[in-house]
Amino acid sequence: MVKLMITIFIFLVTRSARAQSSDDVSWAKRVETGSQVVTSMQFYFHDTLSGSNPSAIKVAQPQSSTNSLGGFGNLMMIDDPLTEGPDKNSKLIGHARGMYGQTAQNDLGLIMVLNYGFTDGIYKDSSFSLLSLNPAMQTVREMAIVGGTGLFRLARGYALAQTYWFDPSTGDAIVGYNVTIATYI
Ligand SMILES: *[C@@H]1O[C@H](CO)[C@@H](O)[C@H](O)[C@H]1NC(C)=O
Repeated sequence: MVKLMITIFIFLVTRSARAQSSDDVSWAKRVETGSQVVTSMQFYFHDTLSGSNPSAIKVAQPQSSTNSLGGFGNLMMIDDPLTEGPDKNSKLIGHARGMYGQTAQNDLGLIMVLNYGFTDGIYKDSSFSLLSLNPAMQTVREMAIVGGTGLFRLARGYALAQTYWFDPSTGDAIVGYNVTIATYI
């Protein structure tokens, strides 16, 4: 018992000494918090290329056609609504804004450079950044989340995306997202 208490005491002393010594420059400070928060989300992404008010528009394409499956070199700019359910009229919770482009020569592979910004509840004005290859032919696509703002500061995480509905004649799609994000208090 005494030995245990001494061990705990030594642990606390060395810990606080370490915490103090980390302040040895005036321009930087390290604080150990150790508290991680894991957020899981489920929402739907509506990518509309057709109609008079598309949310995804082509902004660049190769000078000569490339004969590749997915149109290697095509670049889209998007402002896609995110909703709570698969129905486009279900509650709007945010927007995915940014670009995706066909980056694979021999199969479908999209490079996704997107900001997912939220407008609902405590997540209003928080966002995360996704930067990843989207292997669009796979049933479930895993993509990396590399950062964020607001409640998603210091985010690390991943998204699992699965197409809910797709119209091959227009390219319009509704994609379900399951997102897991770790942040720190
Ligand atoms: C997303 O989560 C729902 C509910 O837990 C589950 O039914 C679905 O299979 C998940 N989809 C993916 C692509 O992980």
